Amino acid sequence: MPERPDWAVIVHGGARTIPEPLRERHRQGCLEAVAAAATLLAAGRSAVAAVESAVRVLEADPTFNAGRGSVPNAAGEVECDAAIMDGRDLAVGAVAAVRTLRHPISVARLLLYERPVLLVAEGAEAFARAHGAEICDPDHLRNTETQHAGCDTVGCVAIDARGNIAAGTSTGGLSGCAVGRVGDSPLPGCGLYADDAVGGVSLSGEGESLIRTTLAARLIQALEHDAPQAAIAGALGRLERVGGEAGLIVIDRHGRIGWDHTSDHFAVARASAAEPARAFIHRDEDKGSDA
Ligand code: GLY
Repeated sequence: MPERPDWAVIVHGGARTIPEPLRERHRQGCLEAVAAAATLLAAGRSAVAAVESAVRVLEADPTFNAGRGSVPNAAGEVECDAAIMDGRDLAVGAVAAVRTLRHPISVARLLLYERPVLLVAEGAEAFARAHGAEICDPDHLRNTETQHAGCDTVGCVAIDARGNIAAGTSTGGLSGCAVGRVGDSPLPGCGLYADDAVGGVSLSGEGESLIRTTLAARLIQALEHDAPQAAIAGALGRLERVGGEAGLIVIDRHGRIGWDHTSDHFAVARASAAEPARAFIHRDEDKGSDA
């Protein structure tokens, strides 16, 4: 087993088909997000802080279907979901169907050490206001710049210098979906999971399929004995039973990174104390994963 790097981080910008003119924007956006996380991790900050920081960068970038670039539902309104999990004590903070939060991931982080795991809609927005989180006009979140084909989400997994692991997700959901529909992203065991004793995972793809297969839970269970890439292959095999595209990012307790996807593309950037940041939009481009 190679020695664990001091820290490592991987981010994704969603499992989807990325039209040629948008590919560079996806790479750049993921690189900026991973750089934000890497700066904190190199300074000795926590995995939770790094994950929040990376996801905030992706939420602020209209290239991605989360925060500022969210797609409208069937009523033409944006509803966002996000979650963050701390592998130290299995704390989870999550929000769903929120319409006025500039950074849903930061409100999820505020919830990490509160009693409720998940707050939805007006309840989450009232909690955000009470805790001084950034509120915005719903129109600010609606994507007007790029057309999102298929489904996507953003996510991040990090391990810090102390070996603590965190995972996060944020999404604008599926274009044209039912009002009030919630996908996998805010649900631990479906869209994300983190456990310092095992690893951390963050998923993208068709939420209904990821929920029905509890894919993040399956992936974490496989990481108890498999290397990341083998665990991912097993999880994607489970997904075949219900169909649907997905993209998965993983860091295990040894700091090994893995990722893969069944979608045409999956924008990803990775970095660690031992390797500089690199970005990809297809798994075939990355020869360096530690599987
Ligand atoms: N994976 C995002 C969603 O289905 O909402």
